[in-house]
This record gives sequence, structure tokens and C-alpha cells, in this order.
Amino acid sequence: MASVHSLASTVQQRLADALSAALPEAGSTDPLLRRSDRADFQANGILALAKKLKGNPRELATKVVDQVQGDAIKEIEVSGPGFLNITLADRAIIETLAARAADDRLGVPLKENPGVTVIDYAQPNVAKEMHVGHLRSAVIGDALRGMLDFTGEKTIGRHHIGDWGTQFGMLIQYLIENPGELAPADDVDGEQAMSNLNRVYKASRAVFDSDEEFKERARKRVVALQSGDKETLELWQQFVDESKVYFYSVFEKLDMEIRDDEIVGESAYNDLMPETARLLEESGVAVRSEGALVVFFDEIRGKDDQPVPLIVQKADGGFGYAASDLSAIRNRVTDLNATSLIYVVDVRQSLHFKMVFEAARRAGWLSDDVTAHNMGYGTVLGADGKPFKTREGETVKLEDLLDEAAERATAVVREKAEKVGLTEEEIVENGRYVGIGAVKYADLSTSANRDYKFDLDQMVSLNGDTSVYLQYAYARIRSILRKAGETRPGAHPELELAPAERALGLHLDAFGDLLYEASADYAPHKLAAYLYQLASLYTTFYDQCPVLKADSEAQVENRLFLCDLTARTLHQGMALLGIRTPERL
Ligand code: ARG
Repeated sequence: MASVHSLASTVQQRLADALSAALPEAGSTDPLLRRSDRADFQANGILALAKKLKGNPRELATKVVDQVQGDAIKEIEVSGPGFLNITLADRAIIETLAARAADDRLGVPLKENPGVTVIDYAQPNVAKEMHVGHLRSAVIGDALRGMLDFTGEKTIGRHHIGDWGTQFGMLIQYLIENPGELAPADDVDGEQAMSNLNRVYKASRAVFDSDEEFKERARKRVVALQSGDKETLELWQQFVDESKVYFYSVFEKLDMEIRDDEIVGESAYNDLMPETARLLEESGVAVRSEGALVVFFDEIRGKDDQPVPLIVQKADGGFGYAASDLSAIRNRVTDLNATSLIYVVDVRQSLHFKMVFEAARRAGWLSDDVTAHNMGYGTVLGADGKPFKTREGETVKLEDLLDEAAERATAVVREKAEKVGLTEEEIVENGRYVGIGAVKYADLSTSANRDYKFDLDQMVSLNGDTSVYLQYAYARIRSILRKAGETRPGAHPELELAPAERALGLHLDAFGDLLYEASADYAPHKLAAYLYQLASLYTTFYDQCPVLKADSEAQVENRLFLCDLTARTLHQGMALLGIRTPERL
């Protein structure tokens, strides 16, 4: 494994060195290097510096130019009011890419001081259908995790499933009075499991709403559950197991690996909650108010300007959502040694997290060294711009949605299948990867906090910013490489590069830098945008630069080399986002 400095970081360093050599009095200054259309890079940092030193920017820039060393830079010139335009040597570009190609990680370094990030994502609720919101959390969390892992960060997943609370009194009591309504979890598939759970949920809710005596028995059942009554817990476990059969079937459809030891739901923090409450009360972070234990925040106020409290413990002694989240923070910080906590949860819960994080900070569980961040995601909308529903106004079943995506994608794949020579089996498999990829990519390419339209027609379109476009780009490159014979093509740094080759090369070189930036910002959409641009630059390159029919053998090889590195970068980037790239499409 050898990590490679990007050309941008090399130039950045050279400029910073030149700046401090030319102007020792300036201290360390950021040259503000950007990609540019005029040259390869432009540095704008001298303008601000000149202002600070009350000097003439063009003069300063000229001084800096005289100091710039290194053969990677072919040309550096002062332009405009004091910008620097920098053009790299073709040789430097290909040599750097060759170093990347020689490395399994494409030259992307591992973090020197990795932290531990706990990602709370993919958290459906027991005995309930998963909806598009849960889909977003799963897709975004999984991608973020892939990206962070690749940088060397240690990530731990936590699927904070809704497996606790008063509704279980109702469900369990119903099952006691109607035994046999749930088949053993071993005997059902995901679909059967969910339809059983749905039936029990609806039936128990109907009795609960109409029968006061049942209601009372259900309330007592909650107490039995919380005090650990054996029979009650066994039935509760049955609901959880049955739901997990269903969850796993959906995650598998999503082509996503979820580990059982990372499914740690609300119930797991049950034993910690009394202590959490005690610690908060003793430290004065929480106070008793009308019998309940609550935390107040000056800045958080409700309608009538009354402060809205976070309820840690209700007046009847019960604990809720906030207590479980506060206990989870203690567990993640103390037992898992987390340095960052990320929550991929619907933006509509952002007030809850704001209060929970602030309470945890006051209690000393979070600090400058241990941070928490809620990646609140927006609502999934239908093509009509309203929250995504069926025509009848019901929430859309996640599995139906994924099945439909796979179906439509299979039709798209089938259209081209004959030309590519795909077997029926390959058509179905690729169709699934294209369909699921389309759903994931549509979600990931919009920045998470924005609402996004769930529009299958657009998602499986071959044109535009879709995963299908990227997957086809990948498959096309692989087909060229197969035609050329499978040996890994060698690079030719001695060749002069065409503009489209330079543009593609520089973009390939930026993969590692971009990945670090996107990971630090918790922004999978930046990686998606990078990959889309990569595919577009490749398309331009392919249009302008013949590969197999290039002028010389060396040029054929060098272009194949660029093709190969593009394919590997696309494949790696898509894999980090959780999207497959079939070899033939
Ligand atoms: N189960 C919750 C829901 O469906 C999401 C849980 C989010 N995570 C958490 N730590 N509160 O809305």
C-alpha cells in the first residue's frame, strides 16, 4: 500500500512554500488553489494577503512565481489583479496516475489518527411496516459508513429500532388472549412475517380502542414488561424476532448487509435509564416539574413562549424515547469509546436531537472531543411534490417500491441485452442491481437535508445524473478493456496529452482528496457528484480520443490505462455508496 499525494496537494504545498520564502512576514497563508478552466489550477490567495500586507498584489504574485520550484509545474503565470494560473506537466499527471494505479486503494491514504464513529441508521420499528423514510436512513447511513471506513475511521453501526414502549402492552396482551396468531419466526418469510404482524397490530388496536377493560389489562402488561416478567418478555421477543425476519428481507432486497450484533434497539438501554435519570437529577441538569423529571432550555420555546422541556421521566415513573437516547449516548461514549456520533434520522426529529445533545453536553457526556451530529434527512416526495403515498393515500410499502424499481430496470437492461449477449439470468441479476442502484443513487445524489422526489421513471433513465448512466459508463469501459485483452495496461508519461485526457486525468487524481472532504462533511452527495462528473469527463474523452485506434501503440496503451483507472475509480466510488457496477450491461 502506497499512498499518493494528489497533484493539487503538491502544488498547494509548493505555493505555500514559495509564499513563505517570498514573504516571510506573512506567516502561513492558504494559497486558495482551485481547479480552473483557463489553466489546470488557479490560486487566489495572494489577493487577500496583499490586502493584509498593504502591498500590490501583482507584485507579490510575481515574487511568488520566482520562488516556485519543482518540475511538476510546467507553467505558472500572474493574471488579472494577482491570480496565479498554473499548468502542470503532462508527464507529472500520468506519473501520478501510474502511482495510483499501482495501489489497491488508488493511492488514497489511511487516516493517521482514526477515531471511532458510531452511526445510528436503518432503525425501523418492531411490528410496523418500513417506509420510505427508513429507506433513506438506511441508504444514507450505509454510504456514509462505507466512505468513513475507507478513510480508516473505525465505524460501529447502531440500528436503534423501536422495540420498546407502551404499544407492546397492547400487542402482548392481545397475543396472550389470542394465542397462535403469530407463527414462530423460523417458519415464516419476510412477507408472511409482516402480514402476520400487521394483522395482530390492527386487531389489537381495534380491541384497545373499543374495550376499556382490555385497555386496562394492556396497561398492566406494560408494567409487567418493564419489570421483566418472564412470560411477557418471551412474547415481546417473539414480536422482535418476527419483525427481524421482515427487516432482513427488506435489507437483503436493498442489497445491504446489516449485522445482528449492531441491531441494538431502544429496549437495550432499559437497564441504564434509571441511572441516567439519577445522574441528570443529581447534577442538576434535570429538575422535577409537576412530578416529571425534565430538562429545560432557555432558547427552545413553544407556541405560547413557554419553554419546551425534554422529558426524561414521566410523572408515572415511565421512561420514553429521550431517556433511551440519552442512555444510548452514555453507552456509545463510555463503552464503545466513540469520538463521533452520527444520527441519520428524519429532520422532523431534529428538535428532539437538539435537546438530547444539549442535555448530554450539560451532563458532560458530550464535549469538544466527543461530538454528536444529526444528519436530518428531508421528506421523500411523490412525483406530484407531495409526501410519497399510494393513490389511495396510504404509505407505500418499501418492498413493493424496490420490486418495482427492479422490474423497470430489468426492462431497461433487457432492451440492450441481446447486443451485449446477456443470459436471462444475467438480465435479472443486473436488472436488480440497476434498479436498487437507481433508488440508492437518487437518494444519495441529493444533499440529505433536502426533500427529494421519488420518481422511478427519472431514476432509471439512461441520460442525466443517474446511477444507470454511471453503471453503463463502467460497463462500456470494461467491454473496451476486454476487447483489448485483460492485461493491465501500462502508462506512457512521455506522451503529450489531449485536453480531454488532461481533464479526465486531473479528475481521477482528485478522488482521494474529494473522498476525505465528503467524509469530513458527512456528504455522500459530494461523492455522487464526483462520480457523475467522472463519467461525463470519460464520455468526452471517449468521444474525442480514439482508444483502440489511436495513432501509436504507446498511445493506445496510455488511453487504455486511463480507461482502466477510470473503471477502477468508478467501481470503488460506487461500492462505497453501496451500488454495484455489473461488468456487462
Ligand atoms: N425508530 C425511529 C423511527 O422510526 C428512529 C430511531 C432513530 N434513532 C434514535 N437514536 N432515536 O422514527
